[in-house]
Amino acid sequence: MSMTSLPVFLLPIFVLLSLICLCKSDDRLSPAKPLSAGDKLVSSNGVFALGFFSPTNSTADSYIGIWYNNVTKRTYVWVANRDSPITSGSPGKLVVTNNSNLVVSDSQGRTRWTTMNNFTSGTTGTSAILLNSGNFVIRLPNGTDIWQSFHHPTDTILPGMPLPLSTNDDLYTRLVAWRGPDDPATSNYSMGGDSSSDLQVVIWNGTRPYWRRSPWNGELVTASYQSSTGFIMTLRIVYRGDDLYMTFTVSDDSPSMRMTLQYTGMFQFLVWNRESSSWDVFTEQPSPSCDQYAYCGPFGYCDATEAVPKCSCLSGFEPDGVNFSRGCRRKEDLRCGGGDNFLTLRGMKIPDKFVYVRNRSFDQCRAECSRSCVCTAYAYANLQNGSTSDDLSRCLIWLGELVDAGKFRDGENLYLRLASSTVAKESNVLKIVLPIIAGILILTCVSLVWICKSRGKRRIKETKDTYTRQPSKNPKSNELENETIELPYICFEDVVTATGNFSDHNMLGKGGFGKVYKGWLEGGNEVAVKRLSKNSGQGAGEFRNEVVLIAKLQHRNLVRLLGYCTHEDEKLLIYEYLPNKSLDAFLFDATRNFVLDWQTRFKVIKGIARGLLYLHQDSRLTIIHRDLKASNVLLDAEMNPKISDFGMARIFGGNEQQANTVRVVGTYGYMSPEYAMEGSFSVKSDTYSFGVLLLEIVSGIKISSSHLIMDFPSLIAYAWSLWKDGNARELVDSSITETCPLHEVLRCIQLGLLCVQDDPSARPLMSSVVFMLENETAPLPTPKEPVYFRQRKYEVEDQRHDYDQEISLNGMTMTMQEGR
Ligand SMILES: *[C@@H]1O[C@H](CO)[C@@H](O)[C@H](O)[C@H]1NC(C)=O
Ligand SMILES: *[C@@H]1O[C@H](CO)[C@@H](O)[C@H](O)[C@H]1NC(C)=O
Ligand SMILES: *[C@@H]1O[C@H](CO)[C@@H](O)[C@H](O)[C@H]1NC(C)=O
Ligand SMILES: *[C@@H]1O[C@H](CO)[C@@H](O)[C@H](O)[C@H]1NC(C)=O
Ligand SMILES: *[C@@H]1O[C@H](CO)[C@@H](O)[C@H](O)[C@H]1NC(C)=O
Ligand SMILES: *[C@@H]1O[C@H](CO)[C@@H](O)[C@H](O)[C@H]1NC(C)=O
Ligand SMILES: *[C@@H]1O[C@H](CO)[C@@H](O)[C@H](O)[C@H]1NC(C)=O
Ligand SMILES: *[C@@H]1O[C@H](CO)[C@@H](O)[C@H](O)[C@H]1NC(C)=O
Ligand SMILES: *[C@@H]1O[C@H](CO)[C@@H](O)[C@H](O)[C@H]1NC(C)=O
Ligand SMILES: *[C@@H]1O[C@H](CO)[C@@H](O)[C@H](O)[C@H]1NC(C)=O
Repeated sequence: MSMTSLPVFLLPIFVLLSLICLCKSDDRLSPAKPLSAGDKLVSSNGVFALGFFSPTNSTADSYIGIWYNNVTKRTYVWVANRDSPITSGSPGKLVVTNNSNLVVSDSQGRTRWTTMNNFTSGTTGTSAILLNSGNFVIRLPNGTDIWQSFHHPTDTILPGMPLPLSTNDDLYTRLVAWRGPDDPATSNYSMGGDSSSDLQVVIWNGTRPYWRRSPWNGELVTASYQSSTGFIMTLRIVYRGDDLYMTFTVSDDSPSMRMTLQYTGMFQFLVWNRESSSWDVFTEQPSPSCDQYAYCGPFGYCDATEAVPKCSCLSGFEPDGVNFSRGCRRKEDLRCGGGDNFLTLRGMKIPDKFVYVRNRSFDQCRAECSRSCVCTAYAYANLQNGSTSDDLSRCLIWLGELVDAGKFRDGENLYLRLASSTVAKESNVLKIVLPIIAGILILTCVSLVWICKSRGKRRIKETKDTYTRQPSKNPKSNELENETIELPYICFEDVVTATGNFSDHNMLGKGGFGKVYKGWLEGGNEVAVKRLSKNSGQGAGEFRNEVVLIAKLQHRNLVRLLGYCTHEDEKLLIYEYLPNKSLDAFLFDATRNFVLDWQTRFKVIKGIARGLLYLHQDSRLTIIHRDLKASNVLLDAEMNPKISDFGMARIFGGNEQQANTVRVVGTYGYMSPEYAMEGSFSVKSDTYSFGVLLLEIVSGIKISSSHLIMDFPSLIAYAWSLWKDGNARELVDSSITETCPLHEVLRCIQLGLLCVQDDPSARPLMSSVVFMLENETAPLPTPKEPVYFRQRKYEVEDQRHDYDQEISLNGMTMTMQEGR
């Protein structure tokens, strides 16, 4: 039907009709007006559209998404049902329900996605609106927005959209990349605030950091870019209530801009170029070369001030090996006490794995670091404009390696601890280098003249030089030999003799990795011999390499490895013998636990924490213990704790920092939920085991005790319940209640609960744990409830019957009484 054929009197009606049709591309939904496949909402400024789409032109899967209405290359900025598409052939529907939820359902009426607000008060007139900013909101009639897509991002940040850095808020969310260019499903790349500090933004590849922004230093404008055509984009940090957010703003009438975590893991800032009809990349992270997380290894840094960024060692350090795969090592050991000093490094990207100490002045921050012999550096900033609390300080200290450091134009100061003599040398480098260069130049001129004059004498001189240099070479090669610790091989016959042919009489214990025997080597030295079970899957050569690596781990809270032995498929490790046996022998024995007064228990807790920190961070290897428990902590004559069985996970073929494993080693009760359920482990799994052990030491209750603890399904649930109600003191072992300083014990309990939180990223690193144990005034975060165990309890309750029943839970048997 063409316009000219219309009778004139029908024209107004036609105009009216077409207006009604236009309402189809309205900017809002109401309960009475759902959105079907083919319809779309358009924001009132015409910039954004929302509707059903299929990423490829095939109609296989469809999603609800938001895209730019006026950008010729279809670009999605938000997807609702990314992990549950509506599958082929069934056009879906998006509705806003009377109880103020958005629901995406397929043709059979099955819900594929919903906002899940529990908003039940009877309201009419709720609507869902696509705002001009690209934010899709559910709005109550009185104007309150109860849900917004900006709080549930997909992979894109739009101007004005906040990305939370801190996690006090339950809205805590991350950007998660698409799985592929045409697949909106969630992938392994994510980006967001790092919950262990609330100060920095990290991109993760799975659970491994891939890139990291330097921690926030109080500046509200962290970057500002001006394009050649004049518009300005500003990256800001904003406070809303107590929470920090990263966001960006753009000047008016700028083209479309977005920040997107691409499916490749790259975080890009993109600008729409109308001329070329394409997205221009303004900046991207990680930039090529050494910007990736920890690329330059421990104590190395990526120098972005160079024309081509490259790895270097921090002052006072030298490369450990030919390249930076192992980072850098100290030229001169720290002395502790008065022998060390701090060197100021300017323009640095602050390294990761810091401990955030609250409420300290600059001088107090420095003192904090000087006081602890394991502290390697500190950094300080004043959060003057950014903080809503009284505490304006940002004191960071490092206990152990410095990883992922960098140097860039707007970097801040890092104060690095070095032996005093090194500091003197390093800070004098400039004063010395310039005269040296001048000296060399003069010398070169002089010697050129001299060489020309005395060509004939040269050969003799040279041979003389090489001769005189030789003796000075020898001490150097000796040094190298000393470095490769040669671990004694002990022959099998000697081990058989030492242990009385592995007689049961000499057996000290057995565990997941094999049996342990007491033995007497020649000269009557007592040793403990660990006979590994035969399924390690390692050859003799591989085994030897592992053992040599592990032998290099020397720490006063680790059991010392004295030698090893292989014979056919036997593999044996020889350790120092500790007469006092293991912690569990004292802790859970009512006749012996009086030996463990609070001072001793606290010493044991701190020692175990230091030993674990060494395994995780200070050694070159990053060892995850994976089986920390009371029976693996041995006590020496002075009741100092020594962790045993470390490095076993490596010998049994699990030497990645973070991995999934089919073979779950470890002990139920001490295993973190993610390890027990999914087999995924990290240093945070050890933190969990440490938390359990800590609660055991304080309470004297075995995690695997076969009785219900005061009606609670586990020690953890019991401890949580007491702590939450302010009754944590009741958890303390009755044999020490009267003599212990209450504040110390209560701090320990809170720390234990922090370590056993369900979310691995919420658990502290061992460096923080050590710090919090050693500093009474360091504030402790508030732990979240360990829900895993509560849920387990519900599972049990679901199966309840009217009679007493025995249920096996987490490998322990417990009896439940259900009275009716
Ligand atoms: C989808 O169709 C458009 C035009 O209809 C075409 O330009 C584009 O290349 C197609 N995309 C794919 C992935 O086939
Ligand atoms: C849409 O794009 C065209 C050119 O591609 C431009 O002329 C028009 O102003 C744009 N409209 C809006 C609402 O941005
Ligand atoms: C929603 O409320 C309106 C008006 O109160 C009512 O007519 C409609 O049936 C309700 N819809 C549903 C799904 O309950
Ligand atoms: C809504 O209630 C369900 C179950 O009652 C709960 O799991 C969910 O977390 C609640 N959602 C919100 C947003 O509170
Ligand atoms: C709007 O109504 C909701 C619930 O009826 C209420 O929680 C909210 O405070 C109200 N907002 C305003 C601005 O009145
Ligand atoms: C994501 O991680 C899981 C487990 O960590 C792995 O199985 C999967 O292959 C990874 N996917 C990609 C695309 O790398
Ligand atoms: C992300 O991790 C996977 C293995 O988990 C690896 O194959 C992939 O190369 C990593 N991606 C990047 C960009 O490093
Ligand atoms: C704090 O604000 C003042 C003025 O409001 C400004 O001069 C100063 O540079 C700001 N400091 C920081 C660290 O942002
Ligand atoms: C660094 O050196 C080690 C062995 O010396 C080698 O295995 C590794 O591939 C090297 N890495 C790079 C990036 O060259
Ligand atoms: C910071 O410490 C001082 C004492 O050094 C104390 O008076 C003040 O209350 C503390 N402030 C905060 C916010 O904790």
